[in-house]
Amino acid sequence: MIPMTLAEIAAVVDGRPVADDPRLTVTGPVEFDSRKVRPGGLFVAFPGEKVDGHDYAAAAVAQRGAVGVLGSRAVDGVPMVLVDDARVAMGRLARAVLDRLPELTVIGLTGSSGKTTTKDLVGQLTARLGPTVAPAGSFNNELGHPYTALQADADTRYLVLEKGARGIGHVRYLCEIAPPRIAVVTNVGTSHIGEFGSVEAIAQAKGELVEALPAAGLAVLNADDPRVRAMAVRTAARVVLVGEAGDADVRAEDVTLDERGRPSYTLVTPNGRVPVRLGVSGRHQVGNTLAAAAVALDLGMPLAELPEALGALVLPSTRRMDVFDRADGVTVIDDSYNANPGSMAAALHALAAMGRGRRTVAVLGYMAELGEFERDGHAQVGRLAAELGVDRLLVVGETAAPIRDGAVAVADWGGESVLVTDQQAAIGLLRRELRSGDVVLVKGSRYRTWDVVDALREAAVGPQGGAR
Ligand SMILES: Nc1ncnc2c1ncn2[C@@H]1O[C@H](COP(=O)(O)OP(=O)(O)OP(=O)(O)O)[C@@H](O)[C@H]1O
Ligand SMILES: [Mg+2]
Repeated sequence: MIPMTLAEIAAVVDGRPVADDPRLTVTGPVEFDSRKVRPGGLFVAFPGEKVDGHDYAAAAVAQRGAVGVLGSRAVDGVPMVLVDDARVAMGRLARAVLDRLPELTVIGLTGSSGKTTTKDLVGQLTARLGPTVAPAGSFNNELGHPYTALQADADTRYLVLEKGARGIGHVRYLCEIAPPRIAVVTNVGTSHIGEFGSVEAIAQAKGELVEALPAAGLAVLNADDPRVRAMAVRTAARVVLVGEAGDADVRAEDVTLDERGRPSYTLVTPNGRVPVRLGVSGRHQVGNTLAAAAVALDLGMPLAELPEALGALVLPSTRRMDVFDRADGVTVIDDSYNANPGSMAAALHALAAMGRGRRTVAVLGYMAELGEFERDGHAQVGRLAAELGVDRLLVVGETAAPIRDGAVAVADWGGESVLVTDQQAAIGLLRRELRSGDVVLVKGSRYRTWDVVDALREAAVGPQGGAR
């Protein structure tokens, strides 16, 4: 963190310093896991039902070298900044730090799918332009957001932040913590529709990102998603449309996919056109990389650099479109991080593209948080799998059964589906059935298919697509 005394921190978080010397200065990172605290840092103690961070406050200072602790209860002998709610205080502290970094550009991303992926892509491009904070992983809520923002310091030029929402007002709140100058909205789908109630409400919530932009800002909007495109009227900022639509300002033409599902396209911009050949898999990476390119162009990257820069992009966050080969000739697409109908569709299209001339197997698990849309959402995914001609569909768990129902309802589907009780059963079946040449997609909402893909990975041969 930028150097701040406990007294200064108390002032900006609306707290009270409780320390013999309130001029003690924090110079190190802010951590809420006491094991990660480093000398000179600040430890944030959260009260918890199982674990109370305050129990670790003394050790964070004495053993790990923290300068002080931000928390809601005084601890004997520990220099503290006392607040009512440490979570709110962490947000305020992040905002105060960002306000002191005038040379920093904050780039915020939201959308139903592809926030982390696109954040990672944007971060790799901005890193070519200047010091960037864009850590791998999601960090998109009221805790992860300020935590990430607090990693910016006087050297940082670009802070790339994912903004998640489970309800109206969430993105707005995250924008108060870290006001973006550039905003990217990937898409509006049905993830978390259980909490939101309707797709319109989701669009409303995601659009709060562009509402937070200043007039001198930039909104990068997906031209191919009508609900995202419609957000143009909700911002004072300049709008750049990206996509395959003819009127998109930053556009992809002549998209093709190779045998590994990696897109190539012609990148068309107001300043010229260049050929792009991506190293990441999935047709949805076209839109994600267009958004990243639009951000980089706005920040001054020359168009001529983009073919190389886009071609070099990788997916550092785990379990997202991680394509790997096994010694037995089976290719696996690990997209198991999370799932909703939109990202399931993207992944099934990737499987179909990679499966030309090969047998395709989709191992699909339950999609959480769909609420009333749950049955239809699963059935829709099954239907698409069948329509795309997936050869073998393994549906994991009774809760995901409507995927199978959707698939078998497609009259002319030549494939087969099977419903297995759990991941272990899926692993057993795959061990018996998989043969050289197969392409296997593994996907479901968090952890529902992680054991399956981890078992498949045991026989992986390097080098692999994504980092592990
Ligand atoms: N543009 C896209 N359209 C559809 N699916 C996508 C897109 N980009 C990435 N995905 C897929 O969506 C899933 C989630 O990706 P990612 O983690 O990037 O999204 P996220 O929006 O950050 O999700 P979360 O809300 O869980 O944080 C992955 O399976 C990924 O491959
Ligand atoms: Mg994410």
